[in-house]
This record gives sequence, C-alpha cells and structure tokens, in this order.
Amino acid sequence: MANMKIMNSPNPFNKNKKRPAVVHFGDNSPKKLKANTPGVISADGNQDRANVGRFALISHERRKLPIFAVQSRLLEEIKKNSILIIIGETGCGKTTQIPQFIHEAKLEKNGIIAITQPRRVAAVSLSKRVAKEMNVQIGETVGYTIRFEDVTSPSTKLKYMTDGMLFREAMLDELLMKYSFIILDEAHERSINTDVLFGIVKKAQKLRFETSKPPLKVIIMSATMDVDHFSEYFNNAKVLYLEGRQYPVNILNAKQPQSDYLQSCLSTIFQIHLEEPPGDILVFLTGQDEIESVVHTVKLASKECKKVLRVFPLYSAMPMHLMENVFRLSPPNERKVILSTNVAETSLTIPGIKYVVDSGHVKARVFQPSTGLDLLKVQKVSQEQSWQRTGRAGRESAGTCYRLFTKEQFNSLPKSTTPEILRCNLASVMLQLLHLGIDAYSFDFMDKPSQETLESAVMQLKLLGAIDSKETRSLTPLGKKMAQFPLDPRLSKILISSKTYNCVEEILSIVSLLSAESVFINSLNNREEANECHKKFFSSEGDHITLLNVYHAFKSFKTPKKSCAENYLNHRNLTFASEIRKQLSQICQQNDIPLSSCGQNTDMVRKCLVSGYFMNVAELQRDKKYILVDSKQRVRIHPSSVLHKTLPHYILFSEVVHTSQCYIRQLSIVDLDMLNEIAPDYFRQHRLGVKE
Ligand code: CDP
Ligand code: MG
Repeated sequence: MANMKIMNSPNPFNKNKKRPAVVHFGDNSPKKLKANTPGVISADGNQDRANVGRFALISHERRKLPIFAVQSRLLEEIKKNSILIIIGETGCGKTTQIPQFIHEAKLEKNGIIAITQPRRVAAVSLSKRVAKEMNVQIGETVGYTIRFEDVTSPSTKLKYMTDGMLFREAMLDELLMKYSFIILDEAHERSINTDVLFGIVKKAQKLRFETSKPPLKVIIMSATMDVDHFSEYFNNAKVLYLEGRQYPVNILNAKQPQSDYLQSCLSTIFQIHLEEPPGDILVFLTGQDEIESVVHTVKLASKECKKVLRVFPLYSAMPMHLMENVFRLSPPNERKVILSTNVAETSLTIPGIKYVVDSGHVKARVFQPSTGLDLLKVQKVSQEQSWQRTGRAGRESAGTCYRLFTKEQFNSLPKSTTPEILRCNLASVMLQLLHLGIDAYSFDFMDKPSQETLESAVMQLKLLGAIDSKETRSLTPLGKKMAQFPLDPRLSKILISSKTYNCVEEILSIVSLLSAESVFINSLNNREEANECHKKFFSSEGDHITLLNVYHAFKSFKTPKKSCAENYLNHRNLTFASEIRKQLSQICQQNDIPLSSCGQNTDMVRKCLVSGYFMNVAELQRDKKYILVDSKQRVRIHPSSVLHKTLPHYILFSEVVHTSQCYIRQLSIVDLDMLNEIAPDYFRQHRLGVKE
C-alpha cells in the first residue's frame, strides 16, 4: 500500500493548484558565465575544430564535450602558466579531458599527472571512465589510488587519487618529485585535504624552482565559484573560464515549508514520473541509509505504475559494479531515478537528467571544538550547493528543478558552504603536518582555522601523547609512529598500544572493520530474519567485540560468499576490511609491532581501546540517559548498537551521529577501574564517578 500513501500525501508542487512562479535558471544564477568576456574560452573556437581529425578514434561522446573544441587554447595556457585556475560548469569535461589533453601533448614528460578528488567514489569512477576512453586497462596508463586501494603501476601516467592520499605522499616526499602536474580538482568543495594541499603544493612548486629541480605545474579546477580568493592566494594566478552548455532550468519551489522532506521527495518523484515528459530524475538526499530506504519504497510503489521506473542509489560506499548502471542511458520507454548524496552535485555528471529534486539537505562532517569530535550531521545546504544541484537538470536540454523548500527558506540559506578546514577536527591534519615539519599555526592556509580549533587539535594530540607539550608541539617518538598510519590519530594510538596489551591481531581486525563500511546487511525485506541471524555474533561487551566475532566467523567460512549471504553479512565490505587489515598489518611490522593475540581475554581489547578512545566515554545519568564525560553533552545509544537495550554505566564510543538527536555508535562497555588505570590524569580531571 506504499503506493497509495505516496500518491495521497500532500504534494508540494500540486499541479492543480497554481504553479509557483517559474524562474529561469540561466538568467537568475548570479554565477552564470558569459562567453566572450575576457578570459572566457568560447567552445566555438574555429581554429580548434581543425584538430578534431587527429582524434578520429576517440569516442563520439568525447568529441561532443564543450571542452574538446578549446583543447589547443587550453594547452597553450597550461604551457605558459605554472599555476592555472580553470573554472567550468559541471560536466563540461574538466576532470576526464584535461589530463588526457596534457598526456596526449606529452607535457608531463617523465612525471605523473595527479588529479585529486575529495571523494573516493569519484576518483575510482572517473579514472575508469578515462581508461575506457583511452582504451587501456585500469591500472596501466590510467590508475587510481585511494586509501587502502592502489590500482596503479610503474606505467601509470594519469593518476586519479583522493586528496588525502596525495597529502600522505607529501609526508614521504614534500617536493612530490614523482609528479610533473598536480591537478587539484573540485577546489570549490574546500575539503580539508584539498585545502592543506593548496599550501603544500604551492610550497613544493616554489622549492623545486629554487633548487632548479624539474618544475611542478599546478592546476586548480573547479565548478563555478568566486575565484578572487583563490587567485589571490595562488599569487594572482591566471583564471580560465570554460564555457559549458547550460540550458535553462525552471525552478519550482515548494509553496509551503515541508515537514518531512523524504515524504515530499517521494510524492515529487511520482508526480514527475506520472505527469512529465521523458527524462531521468536525479534526487539529492543525504546518506546511504536514507537513500536505501527511499530506493526500497520507490521500487515498491513503482510496481504499480504502467511506465517503467528504474531506481538506482548513488553514494560513496556502494559497490562499484552497481555504479555502471547509473551512467547507462535509459531506453526510450523507461525512466530512471537516481537517489544520490552530494557526490552527484559536481563530482560525477550523470547523462540524461532532466529533472532534479533537491531535498535541501546534506550530510556533512561538523566539528565541535567543545568535544574535539567530528560528527556527521544532516544539515541544510548552502545557496551555492543548491544552485549546483539545480544546474544538473539543464545539462543536455532545458529541465526542471523541484526544490523541496520555499523561496523564503532558500533566501535564508547561507550563501556558500563553510570550508571543511573551518569546521572539522584538525588533529589528524596537524599530526601529518607536524610530521612534514610544518606547524599548523604558521601554515599558509587559504583560510586559517580558528584558534579554538587549532587548540583543540593540539590538546587532543597532547592527550594522546603524540606531542611533547602544547607550546613546542614537537612530535614524540609515539607521535612519529602514529603519523605512519593512514588513520585517525586515536585509532593509530590504539593500534600502537595493542603491542602492550598483547592483542595486535584483535585490534587489527577491529580497526580494519571500523575503517570499512558496515558488515551487517540490514535488508529491508527480511529485517527480522537478518536481526535474528546477527544475534549469534553479538557480544555483551559491545559492538567492537561483536565486530571481532563477525571477522572470526568470516575467516572460518569455507565458502565465504555463500556463507556471508546466509548470515546477512556484507561479503564485499568484509573482503575489503581484510585487505585493509593486511595493509595495516604491514605497517605494524615496519614499526616494530609484532603480531600477538589475547585469545579469549577480550578485556585486553577493551583496555586497549581505552588507550586511544578515553576522550570518547559516556556516563549513565540518574535519568537513564547518557552524557559525554568530556563535554557533558547529552547523547543516546544508537539503535544499531548491540548495547541499545542495556544501560551500562560507562561506555566508550567510536562515533557520534547527529540525526534528530545525538547518538553514539560503535560502543564497548568499560568500567571505572579500566578508565582510571589507563588514563588516570584525564579521568581525575573530569571527576569521573563523582556525583554532583
Ligand atoms: O569535470 P567536469 O564536471 O567538467 O566533467 P567530467 O567529469 O570530465 O565529465 C565529462 C562528461 O563525461 C560528462 O558530460 C559526463 O556525462 C561524461 N561521463 C560519463 O558519461 N560517464 C562517466 N563515467 C563519467 C563521465
Ligand atoms: Mg569534474
């Protein structure tokens, strides 16, 4: 009956009522770029058309891209400038084409062209696309490197990678000598690692110049944005505007504020599907769970429609082979709807989209200086983001964007998104910078983090024992070791401490599982059966030991794929976790942390977890609720935790999630003795167990 419910729900864009005013996106967008203004390369340049013959073998699709016609002009500018800022509408071909142009012109010489992406899913998907266009196997001339996965070889010339991976490489070689080109893509997103790379790459370029080493060319690429700030930071670098094709988009705002955007989203999808001409639908939601649940509902409801509606999710953690479907064009008699996180905002362009539904929400990492923790929080998008989403409807022809919020609500949104560096935990970045011999306080940031955020990071590193004092901020031997691991400093500390607690094997498994995506399949169809099945892995000690049980079971399966399916375990994520485990285990060996096991004595494991997570402890209150020991913030146990229905006095957690309320997730029971034994100073200071 899901169908009836959807169709009867209040429709924010009810056609029978007077339609909200139609706004012309092209004229309305303050950032619409005009051709023939200085610095704008027009896609109609004639001289460049002559070159097309050289690319007879290149796919028809590639040739149609606006960027293709300006190839030689672009190459000229790339040759002339050591730093270049390239701005172009999403989908015009920056990420897939510019690296190929450079390579075809042999500009990279003996070096590699790095193209950074803030998101793993984009690095993988775009490199695969480029490999296909170049007709090479992925991992040969074109490859990708993301955390725990390196698909490159000595012959790789175009290397798509996450910004975090390039930052880690800088720790080994601050001059980044391997690279002759570094393209920092999606710069407008201002991810924390891209922001740090701005400074690192700028410095590397300067140092290479001063020491007469082979030069480093830097290209900053972005969707439309305010460029003055960027250009100024990069020594008044030249800015090139690429003209993209942007067709007009009608914007329909909800007439009234929507109390439940998921419900509004469902009714809008079906309104479009049943009433509007052909064209695919792209819906912006916030995260995996939400997307999967809407996918499920839409699938059920669409069974009752005459016209076929294919439903696809799109988020970072989804299996790569399923992503191919998203890019496949719909047959004429079918429509597809893609429910995506903000990965489809600018990173990935999906062909065929004519309708965009913007929930107005996004899941973002937000830092709370008071707790020193990042939490994932669903929040409102900025106007800039909303414009980007709108633009996705007008890539191939005129389209429509359904905004699930009113015009007034739009006007009250912040104009732009705050850079991550100004709103996230900096402990990890600071540790890596210190390892590079750079003090975050004096680092050349494009936007300097607040004093409070810097201090909170210093405090965390000091508490973990990674730096000697808050004033000198020199890395201790432990800190140097911690920087070797591609992990949050708390997890690195736990791995290093596992040597003392003789539980390296167990901690390796837990940390790997925490670094991978969820191992449990909570199938909506058989939720109860799945829950029942998962119970055999549950540990009364909490989720960490439960994860360990799952891992042991996985390793004991004779036919892993089949047994995973029978047990509602995610085979792919478990396999990936084993891969992570292998790599972390190697780093352990290199750092004098030999493998050891505590066997059944899992108290050791929980003690070891306290050594890095002592700042992440919650205490039960008289009213049966929890507060965080550190910040006194009220939290609840997340319903997905095995400890959900219990009330342990002290619990340690890996994560804080903020949805309608603040929840803690991935928990272990700890006790007062353990806490006082392992972090006595910290808990003395926080007056643990002393009731007011
Ligand atoms: O980076 P930018 O947003 O400028 O565009 P791009 O990612 O280089 O994409 C260029 C074109 O390739 C877009 O029009 C996409 O639709 C297309 N593309 C595709 O069809 N399939 C992919 N897997 C990736 C890109
Ligand atoms: Mg791109």
